[in-house]
Amino acid sequence: MFAEKMDLRLPGPVQVPREIQRTILRSFDHPMMDYRTGAFQEVLRAAEQAVKPVFQTQSDVYILCGSGASALETAMVNLVGPDDTIVICNIGYFGDYLVDIAAHIGARVLEVRAEWGQVVDPDAVRALLRQHPEVKAVFATHCETSTGATNPVRDLAAIVRETDAVFVVDAVSSLAGTPLYMDAWGIDVIATGGQKALMLPPGIALVAVGEKAWRVMERHRCPSFYLDLKKYRALLPQGHTPYTPNIALVNGLLESCRLIEAAGGMEAAYRRHAALRDMTRAGVRALGMPLLVDDAHASPTLTSVVWDDAGMDADAFRKVLRETFHVAVGGGLGKLKGKLLRLGHMGYTDAGDVLKMLGVLELGLARIGRPVTLGAAVRAAQQVWLERPEC
Ligand SMILES: Cc1ncc(COP(=O)(O)O)c(C=O)c1O
Repeated sequence: MFAEKMDLRLPGPVQVPREIQRTILRSFDHPMMDYRTGAFQEVLRAAEQAVKPVFQTQSDVYILCGSGASALETAMVNLVGPDDTIVICNIGYFGDYLVDIAAHIGARVLEVRAEWGQVVDPDAVRALLRQHPEVKAVFATHCETSTGATNPVRDLAAIVRETDAVFVVDAVSSLAGTPLYMDAWGIDVIATGGQKALMLPPGIALVAVGEKAWRVMERHRCPSFYLDLKKYRALLPQGHTPYTPNIALVNGLLESCRLIEAAGGMEAAYRRHAALRDMTRAGVRALGMPLLVDDAHASPTLTSVVWDDAGMDADAFRKVLRETFHVAVGGGLGKLKGKLLRLGHMGYTDAGDVLKMLGVLELGLARIGRPVTLGAAVRAAQQVWLERPEC
């Protein structure tokens, strides 16, 4: 009976709202569209306009088929070549993706690192840029999804803006849930995927490119056939993409933007996610479980809980939650595999979802024999909600 029931409390992919599911299903239930005709051109143009407020930008946003990693690779291959030096602000598993993409290109990488769970020191980036005026671009993960720590991209943008380098942000798990103001903060490129706080099934990548980045891209020979943004830029005014678009998900994106707007727009989305985070953190604290990230850098989209049980690893406990309560939470990645619970609270998540997640966490702990005061986490989260009923 419960074979298909699973409450996704992962740091992506996330639950897809019914309205988006219906929109996507309708795309399949129609005779296939000729994407080069008026009807789809309108949808593409509308989606590209509607998503700009989510990026907080007036710049163009390009929609590609792909996942978050393809958005990162798109940003990098359009800016960086084998002779270039770049800085990567690496604070975890997904920071390593950026380093790996750069290694595929053969670029020279200067890394600014922090322990997993912490964030980079902007002064270290400033010092490195002074020492290396040849740096062509600085890349930073905004929310490091493997830990739930959020790099200070606003401060980093201000530092990079003073140089000739371009500032690129991986916003795969932050966009639409974490304050991120592309134009106001002076970010040159933002790369993301659809399957996180945009609430879509996986399958589209989005890359926003500002003027400073375009000046660099125009002079750069992109070695990729498919990811060459100059082609996307040339066709955008006509409502075309150079290659076959993901028609269903572009329709879904338009609906996602409509839902975000109908729920109060971006500021409301930021407040909602912050309240979900604070409910979750209060609940975890009430259980006496350690949080990986401190309050100042904790992501509004996911919360990492350090699993300190010597007798059972975190992934075995996650299995208990999945099999007993049909609730899926994330686990540790890379060197933190088996050592973390990553609780997702982005996108289509409300206060009730967090209360359920905390309630089953309590029961799961009781089930494996850990001493737990039932109701403590739920009550602590409820207290937060009473003070800030924003989610
Ligand atoms: C911060 C970040 N960057 C990059 C990626 C890679 O995205 P994808 O798995 O969609 O390729 C992820 C995926 O979770 C992510 O969280």
